[in-house]
Amino acid sequence: MDISIAILAAGLGTRMLSKRAKVLHRAGGRALAEHVVAVARALAPAERIVVVTGHQAEEVEGLLAPTGVGFVRQTEQKGTGHALETCREKLAGHSGLLMVLYGDTPLLSTETLGTLRDRQKSSDAAATLITTTLDDPTGYGRVILDSNHNVTAIVEERACTAQQRAIRVINSGIYCFRADLLWKHLGEVQPNPASGEYYLTDLAEILTRAGHSVAAMHCADPDELLGINTRIELADADRVLRERKCRELMLAGVTIERPESVTIDTDVQIGADSVIEPCTRLLGATRIGEDCRIGAGAIIQNSVLESGVMVAPYTLINESRVASGAHVGPFARLRTQVDVGEGARIGNFVELKKARLGAGAKSQHLAYLGDTVIGAKANIGAGTITCNYDGKLKHETRIGERAFIGSNSTLVAPLEIGDDAYIAAGSVITEPVPPETLALGRGRQVNKLGWVSKRKPRK
Ligand code: UD1
Ligand code: CA
Repeated sequence: MDISIAILAAGLGTRMLSKRAKVLHRAGGRALAEHVVAVARALAPAERIVVVTGHQAEEVEGLLAPTGVGFVRQTEQKGTGHALETCREKLAGHSGLLMVLYGDTPLLSTETLGTLRDRQKSSDAAATLITTTLDDPTGYGRVILDSNHNVTAIVEERACTAQQRAIRVINSGIYCFRADLLWKHLGEVQPNPASGEYYLTDLAEILTRAGHSVAAMHCADPDELLGINTRIELADADRVLRERKCRELMLAGVTIERPESVTIDTDVQIGADSVIEPCTRLLGATRIGEDCRIGAGAIIQNSVLESGVMVAPYTLINESRVASGAHVGPFARLRTQVDVGEGARIGNFVELKKARLGAGAKSQHLAYLGDTVIGAKANIGAGTITCNYDGKLKHETRIGERAFIGSNSTLVAPLEIGDDAYIAAGSVITEPVPPETLALGRGRQVNKLGWVSKRKPRK
């Protein structure tokens, strides 16, 4: 049976007290709407998914466009019923099932949605909705069930009588409708007398009155249904997503020490037998190979680490690549666009930016290497600085293979240092250095014997 999916994501999210649309807020390293679209994509092809946008529509659409889903704009947010109505033109032609999801429920699993679809498919109800029982149902619509466990009405908290408020069965906001009946009856939803909004939830009563049944599917894991309305719930969702991610990685052979202390984004990949030490943050589209060790307090974002890479504690790596067997840190910073070759060594207090290090190259202590290409097996001494910026433009430094850069060298770019060249410690190098050449760029030492006693006669 055909299935289409509408995702309602146009609201501002007043209770977030934010300038940003709620569905753009992030949990587990993805925007809320991205999580919902990801589960929807597992159930239906992109061309059968429509996202309703409104607040910051351009940003939301830009974020989700790569998934191939369609969009409709709800220019005025007149409620969840009205939001679904805006999809009529795009979706009413599709027969079969219509699933409706809210863009603020990021913890939904594909399995649960698959079960919902199958339940609705094999029942003669007009719709099935997911419910659960909460200890604290505050903020959710309460579900009124009849003796057959069918839904006869959903009452929003604000409209609840004291007795209804005590009901702990809540509406998750996840529904699967028979598409024909939905489009037939959606127009009957009237504005809510208190808020003036069109509530999608009124459909339960409308369909029941028209002689159809609305089934409830009880979900045992209330975590999955968490709807994010406030920043407290945002933090709850983030915690659940990170716990899930750690479990998934550990079950795939990754050791995580003190998993409750690490932050690993949903899209991060890590190979088996890698060890993740406490308090690390692995973010964005980071990929880490097998047999790596990521030291405590390291922060790695949108980067690729091949296998057997050692990252010592408190190292920052952003938008960079580290080839297999390399060691980085402690306290190193790969600021952006750094490529560290196989087996290379980057030590403490070394900052790299737009730099490429050949295989086996070393920069073990205290250096700034920017806009630099360093050949294989070159050795960069402590305190080496590439002067890549002349106040207006950035210039490149090229250092040959096996070159030896003495400690505290100042390399003024643009500059080329040949293979096997040798730079004396403390040099300021402004001219090209040919291969196999020793370059000294400093004043010669002068010793003035007895100078001290002559200046200051002894008492
Ligand atoms: C809604 C349900 C409530 C349920 C809860 C589950 C209604 C009337 N109430 O309440 O029964 O328990 O979700 O989490 O549906 N949206 C639009 N356009 C609008 C209004 C909302 O696209 O005009 C979108 C929002 O961006 C959001 C979603 O719909 O992603 C839900 O809206 P929200 O205001 O959070 O509904 P709740 O008050 O949580
Ligand atoms: Ca909500």
